[in-house]
Amino acid sequence: MTADNRPLAGDDLRAEIDRLRKERNAVILAHYYQTADIQDLADFVGDSLELSRKAADTDADVIAFCGVKFMADTAKILSPEKIVILPDMDAGCSLEDSCPPEKFKAFREAHPDHIALTYINCSTEVKALSDVIVTSSSAETILSQIPPEQPIIFGPDRHLGGYLSRKFNRPMLLWPGVCIVHEAFSETELLKLKAQHPGAPVAAHPECPPVIIDHADYVGSTSGILQYAQTFQGDTLIVATEPHIIHQMEKALPQKRFIGAPGADGNCSCNICPYMALNTMEKLYVALRDLQPRIEIEEGLRLRARRSLDRMLEMASGTIGLGDLGPV
Ligand code: 13P
Ligand code: SF4
Repeated sequence: MTADNRPLAGDDLRAEIDRLRKERNAVILAHYYQTADIQDLADFVGDSLELSRKAADTDADVIAFCGVKFMADTAKILSPEKIVILPDMDAGCSLEDSCPPEKFKAFREAHPDHIALTYINCSTEVKALSDVIVTSSSAETILSQIPPEQPIIFGPDRHLGGYLSRKFNRPMLLWPGVCIVHEAFSETELLKLKAQHPGAPVAAHPECPPVIIDHADYVGSTSGILQYAQTFQGDTLIVATEPHIIHQMEKALPQKRFIGAPGADGNCSCNICPYMALNTMEKLYVALRDLQPRIEIEEGLRLRARRSLDRMLEMASGTIGLGDLGPV
């Protein structure tokens, strides 16, 4: 709102966010699934691993996290002295919801010889119950450092876990969670789209079910898919992940065509993440103005969750030896 109570919009809204960002010494971090206006305004746009690294390294006083809650929680776990704000506290994740900590704890207790390799898309409590966190861009590097005889529980995404298990020929006990966004792609509609664009490769996120992965020419994290978009041969790419990522592709390669893979109804609106979509420019402005909603995590829980996240950061950059891994 302006001083005379008019709602802020367009350039005025962007200018106010800029003013507050400087006044608060804030850094705005955004995931590739945020809307184009938020991506363009952010200080840094990245995948889950890159955003975690930025959150751990920044010297800003405030982190304004434009992503979902588990990402903002991760920023707070890694940078407890900073104020971490999330424009909409209801920006959750179906994978986090699928994995209640008490059920995960019981699952772990039923398999005491297994370590828990856990996707970052989970609650702080589940991170605290895990041995090593992975993101989609670090999972393969980390898995390859775990001794082959070590049994593994992988949660909460059964599709990412299944993909890794098949690729590494390594059995893992999978938690039965899914991402509602990637689960919504339709194989039938994808095949129709491929027939309309003969020769166009498909890039898919490993959160997709196997029926989609089986048609993919490239499988990887959001940053991996963006790298593939820079190098693929041809003029059209079919993108099987949340479609807001296409904004970065169109900016980098305006001469090429990027088409979002369709959902069951033949258009891709069901593949927009409803949680990411809760963050808006207006809510970001209010969050910077009021320094609310703010992430708070009880210190004992934070320290327990930090161990598995630190292991991820170390193993993702290959700084931990094979023999160093054991249950926390
Ligand atoms: P990445 O950006 O790490 O590939 O994760 C995708 C995702 O679903 C985030 O919620
Ligand atoms: Fe969660 Fe899927 Fe949305 Fe990512 S895209 S935040 S995994 S619901």
